[in-house]
Amino acid sequence: MQRALVTGAAGQIGTELVQALRQELGAEQVLATDLRRPDDDHPAVAGGPFGLLDCTDGDALARHIRDHRPDTIFHLAALLSAVGENEPQKAYQVNLGGLITVLEAARERGLALFTPSSIAAFGPGTPPDPTPQDTIQRPTTMYGVTKVAGELLCDYYHRRFGVDARGLRYPGIISHSAPPGGGTTDYAVEIFHAAVGEGRYTCFLEPDTQLDMMYMPDAVRGALELMRADPDRLEHRNAFNVTAMQLTPRGLAQRIQARIPDFRIDYDVDPVRQTIADSWPRRLDDSAAREEWGWQPEYDEAAMVDDMLGHLARRTDEASSTPAPG
Ligand code: NAD
Ligand code: SER
Repeated sequence: MQRALVTGAAGQIGTELVQALRQELGAEQVLATDLRRPDDDHPAVAGGPFGLLDCTDGDALARHIRDHRPDTIFHLAALLSAVGENEPQKAYQVNLGGLITVLEAARERGLALFTPSSIAAFGPGTPPDPTPQDTIQRPTTMYGVTKVAGELLCDYYHRRFGVDARGLRYPGIISHSAPPGGGTTDYAVEIFHAAVGEGRYTCFLEPDTQLDMMYMPDAVRGALELMRADPDRLEHRNAFNVTAMQLTPRGLAQRIQARIPDFRIDYDVDPVRQTIADSWPRRLDDSAAREEWGWQPEYDEAAMVDDMLGHLARRTDEASSTPAPG
């Protein structure tokens, strides 16, 4: 991998993946693209080349590929679970219309492709704890339907056309740089901002809802390691279960309270997102990823909480010590 194009680069994962790629490959080697142009100081724009791109537009994608000449695409553009339930037809168009467009470009140009799947690719009929690598996949959300179909499409393009497509089934991703994009696991990011900012948080999931989660540095490293892995060892190339920690709102709040004693949490459950969460795995079995390409998370819950609070506290201190304009 020497030159990359990233779709959905202004989102929660793209914001950090683009920075990691630019650090490794060089700033000019990584073209960040998104449907919307973020502010000029956003890392996708400030740190190297940026282009507007609707991932469902094959002609526009072809132009970017011709101009930038990537050997690898990281396809992150998607609508997440809660947004997807509000606009299921649009979620279908963006998630599957975008993916087939990118797969076709990868096929025509001989490019490698990374596409994330999700815990949402499972449903209420899947064994939830642990969820095996190969198991029943009957999701009940449009987002989940697009993720299962996406896994299958990527496998198909690999088998039929030899496209070097690879992917991870990410759990909920926790990070401090960019806000989450409208998913069911967003509470695990919002709670930190609320704890540091207001000292209280109203959670939209029930206190004991357990979901699989991962800290962003592990999510980014996992993508890069998978794309460098020996292809001969990859049996589950497009849908590796990966996990790092299992969280509940109550347990996470207690961890935060151990560091911010005045922090308070209460609950106002959103039935849509609660139903989605109840249909998802509580813990993934990631032994295939460990065996086939050496996956190993670095952050457990305690390390993640310390790092998140450290970053957000520093940001608050910097903001309060910056003199007001004028
Ligand atoms: P996000 O919602 O934060 O970002 C998605 C980006 O895609 C946004 O910047 C948006 O502007 C862009 N986008 C939307 N429609 C587009 C279009 N038509 N063309 C081009 N860009 C478009 O999402 P994320 O959290 O960064 O997720 C990235 C990928 O990882 C997605 O495939 C998602 O399903 C997957 N994933 C994320 C998580 C998570 O917790 N964040 C978990 C599992 C899987
Ligand atoms: N974090 C994502 C969501 O909640 C999972 O794919 O939608």
